[in-house]
Amino acid sequence: MRMALWIGSGIFVASACSSQAPEVQQELGHAVYITYCQSCHEAPGTGPRLIPAVLASRLTAVRLYLYNKQQMPYNAGGILSDEDYLNVTAWLLQRADLLGPNELLTVDNMDTISLTSPIEETPRPSITP
Ligand code: HEC
Repeated sequence: MRMALWIGSGIFVASACSSQAPEVQQELGHAVYITYCQSCHEAPGTGPRLIPAVLASRLTAVRLYLYNKQQMPYNAGGILSDEDYLNVTAWLLQRADLLGPNELLTVDNMDTISLTSPIEETPRPSITP
């Protein structure tokens, strides 16, 4: 089974480069979520449902990524590889409609992705000049 293979091969995940296809990133990110996040983040878990309004409190994709990396899983932040955190963040964003279906989340574009309005909406005027 694909997921079992993935779980057992951290080296493969760690070496997945940022030029991978968006659908591969989503698949890997979903697997991370199932394994490390959903027990708390799907009802009746102890964590909040990670709906768009909740993700919005992080403001930008880079902040969400850093939060996940530093704080999650709860009391065990940093246990996953950077690539796993990137992929699971991408998956959370796409599920929330904050990342387009063919968009790849990368370290280079994550600071440009706003979490405060869905991608279909007109971007809000920026607060700082
Ligand atoms: C052991 C339970 C647990 C696990 C596992 C867990 N979380 Fe959490 N998570 C929590 C709790 C509890 C909070 C609320 C923390 C707080 O308010 O200080 C939280 C908060 C969050 C938030 C912030 C929500 C907000 O209010 O802004 C995000 C994003 C998040 N978790 C993502 C993840 C991701 C991604 C994973 C998997 C890598 C994960 N969590 C795994 C319990 C968990």
